[in-house]
Amino acid sequence: MAAAQKPASFSRRDLLRGVAAAAVGTVVGTADYGYVYARHRVGLTRETLRVSGLSPELDGLRIGFLSDLHRSDTVSHELASSAVNRLMAEQPDIIMLGGDYVTWGGGRKRRFVRDAAEDLAPLTAPHGIFAILGNHDDDRDMTAALSANGVTVLRDARTRLQVRGVALDIAGIRFWTRKAGDIARVVRGAVPDLILLAHTPSRLTEAAALAIPLVLSGHTHGGQIVLPGVGAIAAREFPVVQGIGRQEATSIFVSRGVGTVYIPVRLNCPPEVALLTLESFTRLA
Ligand SMILES: [Fe+2]
Repeated sequence: MAAAQKPASFSRRDLLRGVAAAAVGTVVGTADYGYVYARHRVGLTRETLRVSGLSPELDGLRIGFLSDLHRSDTVSHELASSAVNRLMAEQPDIIMLGGDYVTWGGGRKRRFVRDAAEDLAPLTAPHGIFAILGNHDDDRDMTAALSANGVTVLRDARTRLQVRGVALDIAGIRFWTRKAGDIARVVRGAVPDLILLAHTPSRLTEAAALAIPLVLSGHTHGGQIVLPGVGAIAAREFPVVQGIGRQEATSIFVSRGVGTVYIPVRLNCPPEVALLTLESFTRLA
């Protein structure tokens, strides 16, 4: 449990706090806006994702994607429910969850593990709900809580569905699984229609090397604080900070997530759930 409770990155935390302090010091009105308003309105992001080699039968498949709930003292049941309701209103064919359901899940914060799983319990989709864990999630407790609510948690694992008469593989890796060889073992034997859930978009490099057609990630929070003219200072290390990216034949979508971490502020970076419509595309590298 201890390892899973470690913060994602001290540099990100320090950067977020530093940027927030600067924002409060120089543009107080904007920072107040971020605290009281911007982080409380969950938007729906609709994207069409071109997926290299996607079977024509899967063209138009609609994936609901929710990541980085970060249920905590500062991320409420109401915010979580609004995200869930927003997604369910779209009636996606399949739902995927990108990890970091809590910020801290040990000690007296352990209740948030149960709370997060219960907040997500209303999610339902014809082809199921599939999840990975983030760096803030406890391997045992969060897996048990999600599984009890009908969610399939993929920890360095792969599962196969039959969708519209074709096989679709969904693979999920642990945050700490980083080597291409370890990821290769998870996807070995997969069918061509393969989706990889990886909490951090930093795995795009390995996914591209393995010619995995589609990756879904979170972790960045879109930077959480995006300063005009400066950008997402706390997320510059990632190959894609938010939205759609592509490397060789691999497409990726990176969610800004729902909650906040380290500081309860979002600036120019509203929370989101996503409805991703797959589109068959054969001209990628
Ligand atoms: Fe996160």
